[in-house]
Amino acid sequence: MTESELEQLRAEVETEIYYCKKNGMTYSKIDAYLSKMFSGRTPKGTHLRKFTRPILNDINKKIKREQGGELLKQKPPKPEPKKEPAYNTYINTTTAVEPIETRTEPAPQQLYEKGKRIKLLVGMFDQHITGVDRTPISRPAQVVYKWCAEHQPDELVIGGDFGDFMSLSKWEEDYPGHKEGDCFDRAVTFCNYNLDIMQSVTRNKKGKLVYTLGNHEVWVEKYKSKDPHARRGIYDVKILFRLEDRKIEWYPINGSYKVGHARIKHGSNANIQHATKTAGSSCGESVFYGHTHDIQCHSGIREIDLLPFVAQSCGCLCNLNPYFMRNRPNKWVHGFLIMYIRDDGSFTYYVPHIVNNRFIWNGKEYSA
Ligand SMILES: [Fe+2]
Repeated sequence: MTESELEQLRAEVETEIYYCKKNGMTYSKIDAYLSKMFSGRTPKGTHLRKFTRPILNDINKKIKREQGGELLKQKPPKPEPKKEPAYNTYINTTTAVEPIETRTEPAPQQLYEKGKRIKLLVGMFDQHITGVDRTPISRPAQVVYKWCAEHQPDELVIGGDFGDFMSLSKWEEDYPGHKEGDCFDRAVTFCNYNLDIMQSVTRNKKGKLVYTLGNHEVWVEKYKSKDPHARRGIYDVKILFRLEDRKIEWYPINGSYKVGHARIKHGSNANIQHATKTAGSSCGESVFYGHTHDIQCHSGIREIDLLPFVAQSCGCLCNLNPYFMRNRPNKWVHGFLIMYIRDDGSFTYYVPHIVNNRFIWNGKEYSA
């Protein structure tokens, strides 16, 4: 083993030990963890513990110096009993999750125009899945999944702010629940659970999934740079949600997915007349977006060729009264995007309002 390889290994061991110490692990637990991580990677003839223990002792001494010897004598603090967040009423989202029946009938007949397929696309924006309220699927999202299960879209687009990730935010550090150790992990589990359902409700379970990242996903990336000892690779949405394994096409924040003559993105304008502003800066392209959690539309005609275009916000699927709103009235509404896209790129779209977790489509009620 060369000198530089040895240095590299030592640096990796140090990072892991910092992480273990941060989580209050005991000596024996740290040893067991390190032997799992680095078994077979120590220099020939050196026992793993002989290599890692001096590093562990150095770090202990360093922490002791930094914290006046307090930290090592202390037992890890007992977790406080869970308090209910004061403003976290979750009016619309707290009931138990009903199982989503993903295949009640055969796939509906496909639509054709002049021998060409008409594609069905569904857009879901701003679910803000969080580990705090222990609700894996919001009720409005359940309604959308039920509609999808029956209509089986060819494409399902996640329009950003899919995960809330408030546990990594600098904004809401004082609120109970968000900084619990397992809050982030639980949120990630719930997000993956939702992705599994999404894949199962697309056409023959093989529909295309697209993910345009939102500002809340950016918090994850920011957190990675803030905490140098964070678990390597963990704070990356692409890895957390296994986007590559799931074959999900993704676009970075402010990127957009172009389908037919429409573009779908998370959105960045949040002023009162955001649809007008978005239409004004979209160069005459139709844009469908979330971010504002409300439903707003601005239609127009392109000066150059007199073709129509639209900027449309499509509502959200999250809690309408999260704790940080403190019961303030807002303009948020539950909704989602249904779009039929013809082969020539033209499209017909609908943005159903979901009120009290119900909406009616073609004479049938969908509810959760
Ligand atoms: Fe959002």
